[in-house]
Amino acid sequence: MSTVLIKNLGKHLNEKVTIQGWLYNQRGSGKVKFLILRDGSGLLQCVIVKQDIGEELFDRTKTLTQETSIKVTGLVKEEPRAAGGYEMQVTGFEVVSIAEEYPITHKEHGVDFLLERRHLWIRTPRQMAILRVRSEIEHAFRDFFYQRDFVLADAPIITPSACEGTSTLFGLDYHGEKAYLSQSGQLYSEANAMALGRIYCFGPTFRAEKSKTRRHLMEFWMVEAEMAYFDMDDNIKLQEEMVYYVISRVLERCTRELAILDRDVEKLKNIQLPFPRISYTEAVEILREAGEDFTWGEDFGAPHETIISNHFGSPVFVHRYPTSIKAFYMKPDPEDSSVVLGADLLAPEGYGEIIGGGQRIDDLELLKQRIEEHHLPVEAFEWYLDLRKYGSVPHSGFGLGLERTVAWLCGLEHIRETIPFPRMLHKMYP
Ligand code: 4AD
Ligand code: MG
Repeated sequence: MSTVLIKNLGKHLNEKVTIQGWLYNQRGSGKVKFLILRDGSGLLQCVIVKQDIGEELFDRTKTLTQETSIKVTGLVKEEPRAAGGYEMQVTGFEVVSIAEEYPITHKEHGVDFLLERRHLWIRTPRQMAILRVRSEIEHAFRDFFYQRDFVLADAPIITPSACEGTSTLFGLDYHGEKAYLSQSGQLYSEANAMALGRIYCFGPTFRAEKSKTRRHLMEFWMVEAEMAYFDMDDNIKLQEEMVYYVISRVLERCTRELAILDRDVEKLKNIQLPFPRISYTEAVEILREAGEDFTWGEDFGAPHETIISNHFGSPVFVHRYPTSIKAFYMKPDPEDSSVVLGADLLAPEGYGEIIGGGQRIDDLELLKQRIEEHHLPVEAFEWYLDLRKYGSVPHSGFGLGLERTVAWLCGLEHIRETIPFPRMLHKMYP
């Protein structure tokens, strides 16, 4: 007799199999009991009939508390009314460990209560669905880059310098030397791209954000790509193809999860290539038409991004931001140096910026000047400047925030549910 996953039960119709899992819920009478089992791959209703199983085993079901770990054996039957389309007629079960009184019951709990118990909260169907979509998205990125011959080149986590400004650095002591947790793998990705041509990295990044919003985590995962000989337009085209591929994969392979999450999938299905592209200046006009009092040169806040993306109902690229609000490495537009050849991708439905990217400065003198203007310590960037001394080429790249993308594709209110253990302002337990 084989042990199978609930999600694969369809392949075992009318066979006797064993499910290894946990008791999610139970109900029933003195003659029939329904155990709802979860095994990480799905939920299954297991029917226990007293007459079939005998009095002793039947009575033992009374001792089975929520989250008791248990192995249940029985016959797989079709049951159109059940969630997955199947149920099990139980012939026997083996208790692995009786659970103590479980704090997360089937009634509603407040989010603070749940966050304190995040290690248990992730066992609920909704959280499991989100984490499954997250996993699919991660696989989709990797497959996308693999199919296109990109090399996966990992960037370090401990770094001696800032990539995205000095205000959000997490510092640490590196054997007496000052070091920081990486805000972005980009600078190292640029070096890797000069070696390998087209590369990506995918890892955790850290920002000591002072803001407590629905979109910010202190620790989040970023997919970053860097391509030698790519200009801004090549960069944007690659990004939209990647995002489109990821949406398609989630729609294709996460139907059940999206249903659990009540996601309006039509909104995702309606997304078409190419995504609209507008300049920052055009975006400012859209804001003013919507009645916003917005000054050219300011950075967009979340409400502004929502107005802009609602205008299109699609992911939209905003390019050529003012030089003064963007990072030191952004290449100025040769036709207007007050703006840079960078673009952000704004997700629809108010999810805001999910990608930041652009073409990098390839000129040594200009890059040195920018490092000084941004009051960054030149010594820490000597190696980075070398990339402009030895065979500098036009190159571009981008970084996509995984958690914001998960929030968008799952249709979530808040980013805290998109990662198993979120790190938020003043909150790092468990
Ligand atoms: O726009 P950002 O800061 O760009 C960079 O870090 C570039 N160096 C990337 C590159 O070109 N290789 O961050 C990129 C993305 C944002 O668009 C957003 O999706 C996400 O990272 N992000 C965050 N996600 C969650 N919490 C935070 N605190 C985030 N900060 C940025
Ligand atoms: Mg950004």
